[in-house]
Amino acid sequence: MTGPEFSSAVLAWAARHGRKDLPWQQDVSPYRVWISEIMLQQTQVTTVLGYFERFMQRFPDLHSLAAAEQDAVLHLWTGLGYYSRARNLHKTAQLLVSRHDGEFPRTVDELASLPGIGRSTAGAIASLGMGLRAPILDGNVKRVLARYSALQEHPGTSAATRQLWELAERLTPPAALAGAYTQAMMDLGATLCTRSKPDCDNCPLQSGCQARLLGLQNQLPVPRPK
Ligand code: ADE
Repeated sequence: MTGPEFSSAVLAWAARHGRKDLPWQQDVSPYRVWISEIMLQQTQVTTVLGYFERFMQRFPDLHSLAAAEQDAVLHLWTGLGYYSRARNLHKTAQLLVSRHDGEFPRTVDELASLPGIGRSTAGAIASLGMGLRAPILDGNVKRVLARYSALQEHPGTSAATRQLWELAERLTPPAALAGAYTQAMMDLGATLCTRSKPDCDNCPLQSGCQARLLGLQNQLPVPRPK
């Protein structure tokens, strides 16, 4: 499939089957997308829902978060785990308020230089939160692309990661579609192209998927070498 064929197929699927009712998909802003993406890094959507709502009630914007005591931020994080995420959120809010006019930078490189924001999260904030053309490569998207390209290597190696980023970059549609596409790819990985039971029969990418063509969808991605 060409890039436009790939993204069109994914977008058409998502228009019918994608998630549209998540709280961070309403009143979209870089701030709300940032908080949700950090919470979702190591935590299931169903768990995040309540934490996200409470966090937004208490800290509705960057300024309120920056002005908080770190303990108040950590308190709202109780139960979510990986508490460095909360400390980094607080640190980044203070940094943006003190040195960035209280605004998020509008490039992936600058976003990715902030505490706790890696390249994929930066891509998610840029595409979902700002409508910029930026690829993501979280765990779900890695699995989709590793299968699509029948990658013959564990996706965690640096060579594989480089290849997958290149593919992700090439397949990302223009800015006007980038946010919907990012969400669509996450949804595809979370619901159809799952780790253990990929539902190829309902997949919009079945005609181009190299793993499926080779009958390797249950073998790929290559597991971590032991
Ligand atoms: N996991 C990571 N980001 C997500 C998002 N925006 N929606 C649903 N699940 C996600």
